[in-house]
Amino acid sequence: MADLGAVVITGASTGIGEACALHLDTLGYRVFAGIRKAADGDSLRKRASSRLTPIRLDISDETEISVAARNVTEALGGAGLKGLINNAGIVVGGMLEFLPLDSLRRQFEVNVIGQIAVTQAFLPSLRKARGRIVNIGSVSGLISGPFTGAYSASKFALEALTDALRLELRPWKIHVSIVEPSFIQTPIVGKAMAAADALREQVPAEALQLYGPAARAVRDATQADAARGATTEVVVKAVAHALGARRPRTRYVVGNKSALQIRLARSLPDRWRDALIAKHLGLK
Ligand SMILES: NC(=O)c1ccc[n+]([C@@H]2O[C@H](COP(=O)([O-])OP(=O)(O)OC[C@H]3O[C@@H](n4cnc5c(N)ncnc54)[C@H](OP(=O)(O)O)[C@@H]3O)[C@@H](O)[C@H]2O)c1
Repeated sequence: MADLGAVVITGASTGIGEACALHLDTLGYRVFAGIRKAADGDSLRKRASSRLTPIRLDISDETEISVAARNVTEALGGAGLKGLINNAGIVVGGMLEFLPLDSLRRQFEVNVIGQIAVTQAFLPSLRKARGRIVNIGSVSGLISGPFTGAYSASKFALEALTDALRLELRPWKIHVSIVEPSFIQTPIVGKAMAAADALREQVPAEALQLYGPAARAVRDATQADAARGATTEVVVKAVAHALGARRPRTRYVVGNKSALQIRLARSLPDRWRDALIAKHLGLK
């Protein structure tokens, strides 16, 4: 079995993180898989080689992050880390006018601050092995739409951080990539819908009068898009390339929306793009 070195992946309990952890294990990486519940670690262990090690890692908990980094460093002995995949993320949906500010803060705590907190903790190990960083962004970090503004803002921020990190880490040849998936079939949309339902209980009745029909249209369109989403395989392939290729790319747009479609949409005049998005989502 090949020994490709060690990688840490956050949010490995389900979806993209789980698929990456299992695939990278079969490729020959020693995978440290971030989970928050012991049962998720047990489930991964059953389906992987004995090399895969679940690690407790809530990326919004500084103590957990430093304990995880210390444990991984110890487990590696003198060797460094070949890769860090910043995958864990959440979607906070809802109309910005009534979005509780604590929900907005939580969105940024996990999808932005947490990514940098984990990166800071593992950089000494990455530097030792000239490892690579792979951030899981989103096409929502390239194009923003209604009712997902908080999520989009967090992924736009991750784009900026990725570019800055890549330049800052050049002296050590630590490459930084971002993978930008469109809809991928994972539990995230279901979780986002459940969170949006819970949020609706917190907003005033006026919010539902003002935004109810539009929010419903966007929900229906999102569910339809999600049902047509690609499988996790496309993301896994991009992550494996970003980690192992001689010339990794800086950005990987993956999923059913091609890079060309995204580039075209971004280059349209704003009001044309607004009209296209509104039409797609069934909005006036
Ligand atoms: N699926 C898509 O359509 C899509 C498209 C573009 C980008 N993405 C991005 O892909 C990444 C993975 O999402 P997914 O689709 O695979 O969703 P998912 O199945 O919901 O997985 C999200 C993962 O993040 C973990 N997580 C959430 N909060 C965390 C925290 N505070 N600390 C540590 N882990 C935490 C979850 O762990 P628990 O099980 O413990 O909650 C879970 O393992 C996210 O960054 C997402 O934004 C997804």
